Formats: sequence, C-alpha cells, structure tokens
Amino acid sequence: MCGIVGYIGKEEALPVLMEGVKNLEYRGYDSAGFAILGDDGVKSEKSVGKISALAEKISGKRFSGKTGIIHSRWATHGGVTEKNAHPHSDCGGTIWLAHNGIVENYKELKKELSEKGHSFKSETDTEVIAHLIEEEMEGKSFENAVSSALKKIKGTYGLVVLKSDEPGTLIAARNFSPLLIGLGEGEYIVASDATAVLKHTKNVVYLDDGEMAVLTKSGHKVLDLEMNQLEKEHHVIDWSPELAKKNGYPHFMLKEIFEGPEAVENSTRGRLIPEEGMSKLGGLESLTELKEAKGILISACGTAYYAGRVGEYMLEEYAGIPVETDVASEFRYRKPVFRDGDIFLAVSQSGETADTLAALREAKEKGVPVVSIVNVVGSTIARYTDAGVYQHIGPEIGVASTKAFISQVSIFALLTILVGRHREMSLVTGRRIAEELEKIPDLIRLILKQSKNIEALARKYQKFVNFLYLGRKYNLPVAYEGALKLKEISYVHAEGCGAGEMKHGPIAMIDENFPSIFIAPQDSVYEKMVSNMEEVKARRGPIIAVATEGDKKIKEIADDVIYIPKTLEMLTPILSVVPLQLFAYHFGVARGLDVDQPRNLAKSVTVE
Ligand code: M6R
Repeated sequence: MCGIVGYIGKEEALPVLMEGVKNLEYRGYDSAGFAILGDDGVKSEKSVGKISALAEKISGKRFSGKTGIIHSRWATHGGVTEKNAHPHSDCGGTIWLAHNGIVENYKELKKELSEKGHSFKSETDTEVIAHLIEEEMEGKSFENAVSSALKKIKGTYGLVVLKSDEPGTLIAARNFSPLLIGLGEGEYIVASDATAVLKHTKNVVYLDDGEMAVLTKSGHKVLDLEMNQLEKEHHVIDWSPELAKKNGYPHFMLKEIFEGPEAVENSTRGRLIPEEGMSKLGGLESLTELKEAKGILISACGTAYYAGRVGEYMLEEYAGIPVETDVASEFRYRKPVFRDGDIFLAVSQSGETADTLAALREAKEKGVPVVSIVNVVGSTIARYTDAGVYQHIGPEIGVASTKAFISQVSIFALLTILVGRHREMSLVTGRRIAEELEKIPDLIRLILKQSKNIEALARKYQKFVNFLYLGRKYNLPVAYEGALKLKEISYVHAEGCGAGEMKHGPIAMIDENFPSIFIAPQDSVYEKMVSNMEEVKARRGPIIAVATEGDKKIKEIADDVIYIPKTLEMLTPILSVVPLQLFAYHFGVARGLDVDQPRNLAKSVTVE
C-alpha cells in the first residue's frame, strides 16, 4: 500500500525521490519521509500528511547526496505520527530503510532484539528490520546481513535499505509487496511501481518474491536469499511519463473518467474481427484449456470484482459457460471446490492486490489453469498467471477506479465472443456484439458531454447522506459499483442493491431523505425496474434514474433522469457506469473533498 522509492546514481537524490514518490502518493498518503546519504552521513526528515507537507517542511533546507530512500505511508502498525513515518533506522543510525508490507512476527522479534539491548523509537513493525540487520552485521557484509535478517522475517515486504558507511550501495528486496528496479544510465531507481521511474527510464527489472537486488553506481545483481545470483529478464514499459499527469484536469479521477472512450478503444484495438463475429486475444491463444473450459471462476476485489460480475452475466448468457464470481478476500477462505476443466480468472487493474494474488495462488496450487485481466504490465498477477489479457489503458492514478472498470467490461465482452464462438454462439450474434462494441467509445463521448448537468445534479443532492443504488441483471453490478464510487469519494452512506431484493428489507429505509438511484435502461428487466421505481415513489423517496435516451415513461416517475444512448443489453454497464462515476466525482468535489486521495484508502491494496 505504501509507496517507496530508492535512488543511487549521478544526480542529487532528493529531487528524484520527491518527484518519484509524488507519483506513488496514491498508494498511501498519511505521512512521508526520506533519508539522504551524503558526504556528511545520513540526513532524514519526516512529516505527517501528504508529500506536500514534507516538501513544505524541508523548504529552504539542503539535503545533498546521491543515494537516498523515500516513503509515503499507509499506516498498518502504529498510528499516523512523525515517529512512525518511514524511513526507520537502527540504534546507531547507520541502517535506514523504507518498507511496504507487514512483518507478522515483529512482536517476537522486537522482544528478542530489546532483550539484546536494541532500543526502538517507533511503534511500527518495520523498525525491527533495521535492528535485525544491525544485529546481523556482526562479521558479515551489508548484503549478507540483509539476507540473514530477511530470512528471519515472516510476512511481506518490498523494501529498500541504505547504510551510512557504504555510500556506494543500495539494497532492495521483495516478498509479496511489489518492487521494481529502473535501470537508468549510471543510475538505479527502485520503486513500488513504474510511474515513479518513467521520467528516468523505461527499462526495468521486476523483483520476484524472495529476491534481493544489490545496486551500486557501477552495476547491479539480483540474488536469492541464499545469495545465489539470478538471471533476470529486463522489461520495457510502454507508458509515457505524460500519462501520469493531470493534463489540465483538476483531478486524476475526472481525467480518467474522460479517458473512458480511449480505454475501450485501447483495450479492444486489434482484438475484434467484426466480419467474422470473432475476437482475438493473443495472450490467451496458448491456453488451449480455455476453449474447452467447463467453468470459469472469477476472483477480484472492489471495482474489478464488479467488472467480473458483469462478465459473469455475459459469459453465462452468450457463451453458455458456468461462471462463479467471488471477492478474492473470501475466495481462499471458503475452500473453493475446483472441478476438472475449470479456469481461474483474476481481474486487477494494478495487478498487485494482495487478496487477488492470494486467491490466484490458491487456484494455481490446486493445479487449476490461471489467467488474468490486468492493466499494469509486468505486475505480479500478470507474471504469475499462465496467460492473460492486458488492458492497455495507461496508468490509473485516481484512487477511485473508473476507466479500468470500463476497460475490464469491454475485455469481458471480447472474452465472451471468443469463448462463445468456440461453442454455440452464432456468427450473427458474434457480429452483433462486435459491431456494438465498436460503437461504444463514441457513445461514452455523448455521455461525457453531460458532465455539467451531472455536476448540477450532484449539487442538488449534495446534502443527502444516504443513497440506495438499484439495478437488475447486467446493471446490478453497476449499482454496487455506483455505490462504491460514492462512498469512497464522499464518505456518505451508499448501498448497492438488487432492485428485486429491495422489498425484502432495504425499502424500509426509504423516505423523503433517502434518495434512490435506479439504473434502468430499456432492457429485458426494464418493466420490473419501473415497478420498483413506483414502489419507491409511493414512499416519497427521491429518485434519480439512469435511463435510455428518449424514455418518457421514466421521466414521469423519477425526479431526475440522466440519459444514456441505446446499446446491446450486455454492453449497457459500460455506458450506465459513466454517469455514476461523474455523479460521485462532482458530489465529492461539491463537498470539498480530496477525490483523488480519499481518506483511509490507497490505490493498490498490497496487504490482506
Ligand atoms: O488494482 P485492483 O483492480 O486489483 O484493485 C481492486 C480494488 O482495490 C479497487 O478496485 C478499489 O476498490 C478501488 N478503490 C475502487 O474504486
């Protein structure tokens, strides 16, 4: 969850680190700190709050040195205080490290180390690692001491360490928390993800679990914890640094909502063959089991999970294949029953979500073929699966996932065509889906033109603190997703609910202070949705409806209507979600909140 950056090279480290960590701030932003190793030893500063607070604190001060580490924290162990902010150091102030992850056995280690005379300055689990390295230094080299210390740790880490009397060396290590090494010219940048290194280099090495990199100004090596040197593949990242900027938008979230049309274009480009009613997913071609699959188990978290739920409807209806979708945080704890012929499909924008990765490992260990839909190229989930589809939508920086959902649902449509056409799906149906999917980007553009109207609507409803989002069939996951967007951005209570389920309980909440948002396009469940709307109206509940262009009936019932263009029923979620994203965005802004970095959240949830 936290963001870490390390630098060793020819430039002054601090500006590189500050810029790099700013790009990672979406991973965690409750406090920040750095340590710079210069001619006069290590200098460190920390501050509670965002990187801007740290920048303000150090303004006018000088921190010279060409080796350094920085950290942006999302607190797990120990409150949000300056003392608990990273980097942490050993007793002598010699070893300094920034860590992302959780040391599960830190209490035992802390006790042992305290008994040996180590004194701790923070309440964090991380600090034990610094003391453990210090303890292991006795008669060992820096790299040997780090590996010995890491062998004693139970838990997860992505970390970067420096030692004040070894100015030419930086050590990075990983176990379940993402870490990559940017290979610049005469410099290395260690980071939690690629956005922090792009300005310097596009060539990276991804560390795998149980690996450690030793970086010096003249070269690098990657070792396992037994100190065996490993051959690592070099990857080239195809994102430009521009993609990680706001480009004139006030927030990343708004920019990314407006990137929806390109997200669909980029995720489907070269993958649709409309005349053959077919799709082509190169990444899945090698996986022969997919065509023969007897069932698909989808697992994901948050927004990616809701995209998976839409995929479930598509694949069952059009490809005739049984699909089960589960939140990854539950999947491995409920002892899933795998049947012969099952495929496991993980969906993740970041490709680093710990719960999704854990579910994936569980499936893989049981011998189930595992595939993924992932955005971040080279991410852990992407590398861990047998085959996969990349989203190709550039970085998603806003903590609220928007364009990723749209892209994931588009990819599920491609997958439905692919799997369906290998089964019963007719050429005509395949063509129809492909042709409608090609039109989607322009239809999203039409919805985006309503942003100002949706802003006015958000202001109108700004004072309400409870919302019920209702949908059926393909738009039930959209109802959940709409509610998730509102609560994470605005901190108001929003609940997704199947419109048919409303009368089994949630309708009791409805009164004139409890608005409902109905996602009710003209589809196979339209009449049922209209009846549910009448039920809410009869109880004086304010109604906002997302409806198909030209629908007059809905206008007579709902207080406010946002129109979306007509498309194939299975593709409506790609359109109906856009007004809900815009509503949540404008609602949060109207309430004066930081929509890109909502409280208590982090973009990439790398702890369980
Ligand atoms: O990177 P992932 O797609 O695996 O992330 C999954 C969730 O953590 C993510 O979708 C989260 O729910 C977002 N904040 C929702 O907007």
